[in-house]
Amino acid sequence: MAVKYVPYYPEPLEGQAILDNFSRTRRTLKYRDANRAIERVKRGMPLYETLKVETVGENKNDNLIIRGECLSACAYLKDRGVKVDLVYIDPPFASGADYAKKIYIRRNPELAEAIAKAEAELNDEELQNFEEKMYGDIWDKERYLNWMYENLCAIKSVMSETASIYVHLDWHIGHYVKILMDEIFGEDNFRNEIIWHYANKIPDKRKPLFTNCSDFILLYNKSNDQIFNIQYKQIKPHKRAKETKINGVKQSVRDENGNVLYEEFDQSMLDNVWNIPSLAGSSKEKHEIDYVTQKPEALLERIIKASSNEGMIVADFFGGSGVTAAVATKLGRKFIHCDIGINSVQTARDRLIANGAAFDILEIKDGVTFYRNPIQTMEKLKTLITGLKNEDSLDKFWEGAIEDPKKGVSPVYIPNLLDSSTRLLDLVLMNRIIKEAMPDLPEDTKRVIVYYIDIIDLKEIEDFIRDNNDTLIEIELRDLKEILDEIVVEDYAEYTFGEASDELVSGWRVKIDKIISDRVLRRIDEYNQKSIDNDKATIKISQNGLELIELVALDCVSNEGAWHSDAEIKIDKLGYMIKNGVKTKDFWNGSIYSEKKPLRLKIRNICGDESVYKLGD
Ligand SMILES: C[S@@+](CC[C@H](N)C(=O)[O-])C[C@H]1O[C@@H](n2cnc3c(N)ncnc32)[C@H](O)[C@@H]1O
Repeated sequence: MAVKYVPYYPEPLEGQAILDNFSRTRRTLKYRDANRAIERVKRGMPLYETLKVETVGENKNDNLIIRGECLSACAYLKDRGVKVDLVYIDPPFASGADYAKKIYIRRNPELAEAIAKAEAELNDEELQNFEEKMYGDIWDKERYLNWMYENLCAIKSVMSETASIYVHLDWHIGHYVKILMDEIFGEDNFRNEIIWHYANKIPDKRKPLFTNCSDFILLYNKSNDQIFNIQYKQIKPHKRAKETKINGVKQSVRDENGNVLYEEFDQSMLDNVWNIPSLAGSSKEKHEIDYVTQKPEALLERIIKASSNEGMIVADFFGGSGVTAAVATKLGRKFIHCDIGINSVQTARDRLIANGAAFDILEIKDGVTFYRNPIQTMEKLKTLITGLKNEDSLDKFWEGAIEDPKKGVSPVYIPNLLDSSTRLLDLVLMNRIIKEAMPDLPEDTKRVIVYYIDIIDLKEIEDFIRDNNDTLIEIELRDLKEILDEIVVEDYAEYTFGEASDELVSGWRVKIDKIISDRVLRRIDEYNQKSIDNDKATIKISQNGLELIELVALDCVSNEGAWHSDAEIKIDKLGYMIKNGVKTKDFWNGSIYSEKKPLRLKIRNICGDESVYKLGD
C-alpha cells in the first residue's frame, strides 16, 4: 500500500505542440484512455516503503541502485528533495518481444579442473544453459503511451532546472512519444533527434526491405538554461585555408609574402548521426556483462560528457545492465540506477563493484518487485492461487476461475503486474468491473473474486459496491499481497565454517557443501521436459548442486539489516572466479575466506535468487 501520493501534475507550458493548443492545459495527443492517465497523474506518484538492502563501500556521493518501478523511484526521490542533472532512459520500445536471460549452469567445484580442459574450447552457446523471461515488451499503443506519459511526468518532476533528458526509442513507438514529449517538456525545449546508426547489423535477406539498423534518441531540456559541452569526433587530418573577417568579409590569412596560410584539422563537431557499432555477442563488453538489451558504453559516454559536468547526478530509470551508472562513474559523475528486475539490479551491482564504485541498494516495496521480475511474479502468482484454472469461456479481463460446490464457477480478476496502472483498486477500476466486465458473465455466476495490491480506502470501495452493484453476483475482495509473501522461499544450503588455521590463508573459511534450490530445479525440470519432447540433451545437476551457485559473499559487520560484503566470489559463466570484483583465472573450490569472523553468508543462485544464512548464534 502506498504510504502517500507525491504531487507531480505538470505545469502548463507555453508554445505549441499542435497548432491551436497554446496553453497546454489540455492533452494534445488524444487516444483511448488518455484521460485515465491524467487522473492518475492528478492523484500523484505513489510513495512506497523503501528498504536499504545493501551498502557497497563508503558511499560519499549518495550513489543509488533502486529496485522498483520508475514511477515509485521518482516518488522516492521527489519526496527526499533529490534533483537529477541528466537523465538517459532506454525504456521498453513496445517492440512486441519478450526478453529472456540465458542462465548458465556453472562448473561444479569438485569437477572443475577436470572438465575445464575439455570445455576450454567451447563457446558460450555450447555451455549448458536455459532461458528465463526477464521482461515483456508487448503493449497496445494506448496502454504504452499512458504508461510513458506518467513516467515522463514523474521524471520531469525530479529534474533540475538545467537538466537534459535523452529518451532512447525506435520506429515502433518513438514518433508518438515525440508528441508526448512536446506536450510534457514543450516543443521549444526539444533540442535534437540523435540517430544511433549501428552498421554492424547483419541484413536479413528474407526480408525484402531496407534493413533497420538505427534507433533514435530524443533530447529535451527542462528549460533554456541547459548544460551542453560541445563534443568532437576524430576525422581524417586535412588542411584548410586560415580565414579571418575584415569589415565583415571573409578573407584568407596570408603571410608577409602573400602566401595563403593553412591550418590542419583532425576533429570536427559531432553531428546528430552517431555511428557506433551495437554490441555483438563477440564484443568484450557484451561477453562480460551479457544483458539482453545492453547498449554500448561509447553511446553513453557522448551523452554524459555533452550534458553533464563532473560531480553531477546522472539518472537512468530503466537502467538494465547499468551502462549509464558505469560510464557516469568512469567520468566522475554520481549515479542513480533504477530498474524493476532483479537481474538488472544484480548485473549493475556486480558491474559497478568491478568499476570500484560505492553505492547503496534500495528496494521499493511497490508490490511489483516481489519476485525476480513482474513476468515471473505473474506466472508464479497464478500457481499460488488455490484452485485457479484457465476458463476459456470468460473474457480475458478475468485471469481464470475458481470452482467450488457452493458458489460454482467464480471468475477471478488479478491486477496485471506488468501494467502498474492496474495495481490500485480505486473507484474507476471498480466501476469498470461492475459496469463493463460483470454484465458479460454467464447468467449462473454467483460470485466474482477481485484481487488487489493497493487500495486507498477499503470502506469506500465496499460502499461503492453496495450502491452500484445491482446484480445478484457477490464481489469478494482479496489482498494479493498475502499470497505474494508466500512467493519468496529461501534456498536450502549446507555449509561448515571456522577458522582457516589449516590453510595457507589466514582468517576464516566457509565451505559450502550442498545447495538445493527448488526455484532453479523447477525451471530446469521444465527445460528438461521440453528437451525430452524435442529430442534434445537434458541438463543434469549433481548431488551437491554447487553448479547452481553464481555468487557467495560474507558479511563480517552485522548479522541483520543492510548487507555489506566483506568478501565476495562471483563465478562467471565459464567457471572462473571474480574475487571482490577482480577477475581471476582460477576456478572456485567451494569455499570463501574472510579476514574477520563472518556473521552472515549470502548465496545467489544462477537465476538470481539470493538467500542469507546467519553464521553461528
Ligand atoms: C531496454 S532495457 C534497458 C537497457 C539498458 N539501457 C542497457 O544498456 O543495459 C529496459 C529495462 O527497463 C526495465 N523496466 C521495464 N519496465 C520498467 C519500469 N516500469 N520501471 C523501471 N524499469 C523498468 C527492464 O527490466 C529492462 O531492464
